[in-house]
Amino acid sequence: MTEIEWWDYEDTEELAAAVAGDIQFVIESALDARGSAVIALAGGKTPMAAYEKLAQAKLDWKKVTIIPGDERIVKLGDPMSNVTALAKIFLPKGARVKPIVPDAISDYKAAGRSADALMQDLHWPLDFCLLGMGTDGHTASIFPGPDFDEALSGPKERRAVGVMPEPLPPEAPVARVTLSAAAIASSKALMIMITGEEKKTLLEQAIEQGPSSKYPIGRVLAEVELPVDIHWAA
Ligand code: 6PG
Repeated sequence: MTEIEWWDYEDTEELAAAVAGDIQFVIESALDARGSAVIALAGGKTPMAAYEKLAQAKLDWKKVTIIPGDERIVKLGDPMSNVTALAKIFLPKGARVKPIVPDAISDYKAAGRSADALMQDLHWPLDFCLLGMGTDGHTASIFPGPDFDEALSGPKERRAVGVMPEPLPPEAPVARVTLSAAAIASSKALMIMITGEEKKTLLEQAIEQGPSSKYPIGRVLAEVELPVDIHWAA
C-alpha cells in the first residue's frame, strides 16, 4: 500500500505557494547532489499558479531540464500544448524545456515511440514528477481507452507511450503522449496537486481501491513504492 500524506491548504493561493516551495526544494537537492535536475510537470490548469511562483525561485535554471509529464499531440504554440505553457514560464529563466512530441508526428503511436526514445536519453529516474488528476480519475494522460493497458502495465523500461483516450476528453479532444505508469512510479519524488472536493473524494476512493481501482490514478499509485504527497485546496 502506497504511503500517502495529504497536505490541505486554506485556498489555492496557499496551495500554489506550497507546491512551488516543495518543487524548488527537490530541484535544489538534485542540483546539490548531481549538478543537474530533470523534472516532469503536469499539464492542465491547476498547477499554473505554482509554476509561476516556482519560476521566481533563485535557481541555477540552466541546469534544470523540464518535460511535460504528458502532452497533447498538437503543434507547438497550440493553446492545448502543455510544453508551450511550460516554455512560456521557464524558458525565460534559462531552464531547458523539452518537447516530448515532435511537431510533425500525427500518428500517436509513432509519437509515443519518439517520446520514449527521447526519454531514454534523459538522466533517469526523474528527480521529480508532478501529477494532476481529471474528474474521471485520469492522471498524466493515462486515460481509459485502447492504450490504457500499455500505458499502465507495459514493459518497465518503456518510459512514454502514445494514447488515444476514449472518450476524448472535452478540454483537449486529441491523442496524447504520456509518461508510462512505470516511469511515474520510478520517480525519486512524486507529488499530486488537485483542487476541489469532487477531486479529493475521487482520489481518496482511488487510493482506497488500490490496484483494482476503476480510476487510472488508483492503478498508477498502486505501483508507487515511495511516499506520495498530495497537496489539496477546496
Ligand atoms: C493534461 C494533464 C492532466 C491534468 C488533468 C487535470 O495534459 O491534461 O497533464 O493529467 O493534470 O487533466 O487538469 P486540470 O488541472 O486542468 O483540472
